[in-house]
Amino acid sequence: MSEPIKIAVVGSGYVGLVAAVCFAEMGHEVICVDNDERKVVALQGGDTLIHENYLPELLDRYRNTRVRFMTDLAEATRESEAIFIAVGTPQSETGDADLSYVEAVACEIARSISSYKVIVEKSTVPVYTNEWVRRSMERNGVDRHLFDVVSNPEFLREGTAVADFLHPDRIVVGADSERAASVLSRIYAPLTSGQYYEKEAAISGCCTVAEPPPLLLTSTKSAEIIKHASNAFLALKISFINAVSNLCEAADANVEQVARGIGLDSRIGPKFLRPGIGYGGSCFPKDVAAFRSVAEQLGINFDLLAEVEKINGLQKKRFIAKVRSALWTLRGKRLGVLGLAFKGDTDDIRESPAIEIVKLLLAEGCSIAAFDPAAMKRTQEVLPQGNCLRYVADAYEAASDCDALLILTDWPEFARLDLERLYKTLRYPIVIDGRNLYDPQVMSENGFTYLSTGRPAANPVRDLSPVASAQS
Ligand code: UDX
Repeated sequence: MSEPIKIAVVGSGYVGLVAAVCFAEMGHEVICVDNDERKVVALQGGDTLIHENYLPELLDRYRNTRVRFMTDLAEATRESEAIFIAVGTPQSETGDADLSYVEAVACEIARSISSYKVIVEKSTVPVYTNEWVRRSMERNGVDRHLFDVVSNPEFLREGTAVADFLHPDRIVVGADSERAASVLSRIYAPLTSGQYYEKEAAISGCCTVAEPPPLLLTSTKSAEIIKHASNAFLALKISFINAVSNLCEAADANVEQVARGIGLDSRIGPKFLRPGIGYGGSCFPKDVAAFRSVAEQLGINFDLLAEVEKINGLQKKRFIAKVRSALWTLRGKRLGVLGLAFKGDTDDIRESPAIEIVKLLLAEGCSIAAFDPAAMKRTQEVLPQGNCLRYVADAYEAASDCDALLILTDWPEFARLDLERLYKTLRYPIVIDGRNLYDPQVMSENGFTYLSTGRPAANPVRDLSPVASAQS
């Protein structure tokens, strides 16, 4: 492996924690700093804090050795050559990213610098943030020659974050000084040289020694825009296919066929063309709003992004309308809900369209039995169990004696239900699928009324009669 570098990562959220363990996996010495003492103690003691593939293994390998956790940013600054800022940039009321955490970290770093450091923006930040960080360091009396600020955005997805980090499509480094660019190049050398992929027990993924990831060197401002533009473009792709799926429903066409037909055009590509109940999560909603706000502040009309948001919001309402169309009235209906997380393979419920839909259905007077393989604990904190909302142990219990089953998150296990058992479990064999996990033909052959997104509704081909009498 190349020469290890001393790195500090500030923030132990999804990006910070994953970056910290992955830098250790690449051979570096890492200090992960968080000002939340409880989190630090939990991480030191063996907690992983988030549900993420490979994270427990990597933490087991490096905890308290190559990755140390602490609250002391001053010590971490003194000990490190590069300091990655991976703190939250929440959405403010105006849609802007709230950069107060980034500023606070910059000021604290400024107080402890005594030798050259590269300060790296890892959080998603608007263009010009690097200039503000630089200014704030200078205002706090730091000599300009003692630091550089670079932008190194992260493109990892929750659920596959570790593999995404170690097998990126590209590594973007926005640096306006050669000295800083060379530090970042050394940090990523194990990946860009391909060396990491030869390592025994390397996390597998699409990069190999023969095809290592490219490092794209840009200006800091371009790198900042690359991150926002990437997320906004992916969100736009999803809203586009959602709008097309609505058109398909109106025209009695099939959006899966349409998505395949357009995705095979190599200029468009097949990914992020899955229609559904809209995008959610901690990034897309916040980043689209922040990018729109950046454009506005720079005097650029980017109303396209407002349209992306509008389509995304409407998609949840269309789903409710679909449930209503299948059940006639909603008050008093018993519904099984599969999925609460904003997507499969995560326990994250931030901006989850599933939660939004559950709230809307509860407001309509439905009673709900919900199941999610990982997100129930977190959901209960915002939506406590009550008369109309129960959390249950598995998908069949959620479906038990219900008027319809709703699929709201694309967990792989929800696509593999035993349809015969499900049929017998429901009061009425109605499945409304917000994630298109099933083939309508198969569902109708199994006796279900099946409504999905952008595909013709399927009705039972066999008359299997109401479930209650089928059971008796
Ligand atoms: C996203 C970006 O993919 C990642 O590059 C960035 O660093 C952070 O934001 P993430 O939020 O983990 O990652 O989730 P992602 O897998 O991109 O999905 C986001 C949302 O879009 C989810 O709600 C998902 O269900 C939805 N989605 C995704 C669709 O509705 N259709 C699709 O085709 C793809």
